[in-house]
Amino acid sequence: MTATADYTEKIPNNVDLHQDRRLQRALESWQPNFLSWWESMGPALPTDEVYLRTAVSVGREGWAQFGHVAMRDYRWGIFLAERDKDRMIGFGEHKGEPAWQKVPGEYRADLQRLIVIQGDTEPASVEQQRNLGATAPSLYDLRNLFQVNVEEGRHLWAMVYLLHAFFGREGREEAEELLHRNSGSEDSPRILGAFNEETPDWLSFFMFTYFTDRDGKYQLGTLKESAFDPLSRTCEFMLKEEAHHMMVGTTGIDRVVQRTAELMREYDTDEVAAQGAIPLDVIQKYLNFHYSVSLDLFGGETSTNVANYYTAGLKGRWLEDRRRDDHLLADDSISVDAVIDGEIGETEVAALVGLNTDLRREYISDCEGGVKRWNKILDEAGLSQRLKLPHVAFNRRVGAFAAIEASPSGERLSADEWEQRKGSWLPTDQDKAHVHSLMHPVYERGKIASWIAPPRNGINGQPFDYDYVRLP
Ligand SMILES: [Fe+2]
Ligand SMILES: [Fe+2]
Repeated sequence: MTATADYTEKIPNNVDLHQDRRLQRALESWQPNFLSWWESMGPALPTDEVYLRTAVSVGREGWAQFGHVAMRDYRWGIFLAERDKDRMIGFGEHKGEPAWQKVPGEYRADLQRLIVIQGDTEPASVEQQRNLGATAPSLYDLRNLFQVNVEEGRHLWAMVYLLHAFFGREGREEAEELLHRNSGSEDSPRILGAFNEETPDWLSFFMFTYFTDRDGKYQLGTLKESAFDPLSRTCEFMLKEEAHHMMVGTTGIDRVVQRTAELMREYDTDEVAAQGAIPLDVIQKYLNFHYSVSLDLFGGETSTNVANYYTAGLKGRWLEDRRRDDHLLADDSISVDAVIDGEIGETEVAALVGLNTDLRREYISDCEGGVKRWNKILDEAGLSQRLKLPHVAFNRRVGAFAAIEASPSGERLSADEWEQRKGSWLPTDQDKAHVHSLMHPVYERGKIASWIAPPRNGINGQPFDYDYVRLP
């Protein structure tokens, strides 16, 4: 294995693909299917060239190269983080044994399933975002959208490589299925609910990259701990790319809040819709929606499957090596969210079955960070309004709270009360129509739409008015 990618090959890679002709041929025969998926389901806006970063090396010093490329010529490739020959399994019943370079037969089905579920989300988000190019608020934002899109495409490659290299014929069939399922499709939808929701406007896109991509970060974090070393190394490298997606979401919402705050100050009103901006209460509703559907992605509060994955060493905890316990958890317990006698509460369960809750809580405290920074923007504008994460029981469709309704402050509601009041907490048709009405493309260099502030920094040291995207 080499740290630097070989770009002379049809499929750029740092896994010495040329040494395994069969695998190389199998992936080369999947490649045209990927490209026709990209043509039909990828970004719909025609472009000449986009200022993209391409992974060229996984090493410490500089792994990316920036330049204008035609998107269809983007070099999607296979990159695994460098192998640590001495890596030991960090948790579960195989703790202390050398990490696996091959898939143990007994865990084959489970590992394949985990890889397919992760793999399914990657092209799904490209499909969800397919039409956003038509309404980009600036060339800078348009470029960021496409960067996220090509990298999600590369993440699909990352998972398909594992399926082809380690899971034989079944793996190859799953790789085909990843291109056949489509976001929102009636007949063959994507596996997870949040990945079948549309991303119809840019506020949704920023919320998605903040809240839903962040779920991805946490899932990848648990797979990075896996005893199956190729999966671990794949996810480690994907996390580096994921950091940019988080940045797009975090600073995107920063800039929306910033613009709204400026106009609230200037006109001394909360009603900034007339000024071509997004009112703060609408931003809050979008936040409520995206946060709550993303919480669902972590699954039920308790799961024996996940307990088994942990014990087997397939999937660890977030930052497993920083946890100060025995990394077996057989004797530990955790308090998880539950409905008790009809009331929102908590109940004590074995730590192993509560691992979804552990991960969801790590995610929640990370999300608090965003809310803090957006509130700082409001504070600095001299405004007293604040954004908030809704209660964990709010608008849930998965887990303990799926069967009940709750307000953003965690007050239990009857179905009737929920129906009456949900319009003040979740985007209404009217809110969506207003946001939609603001979505006009701004393709002129250095210009920006009315509802969002320009970014503080450009990409790779370039100014905001750089020609990030060249349109035909
Ligand atoms: Fe991804
Ligand atoms: Fe992502």
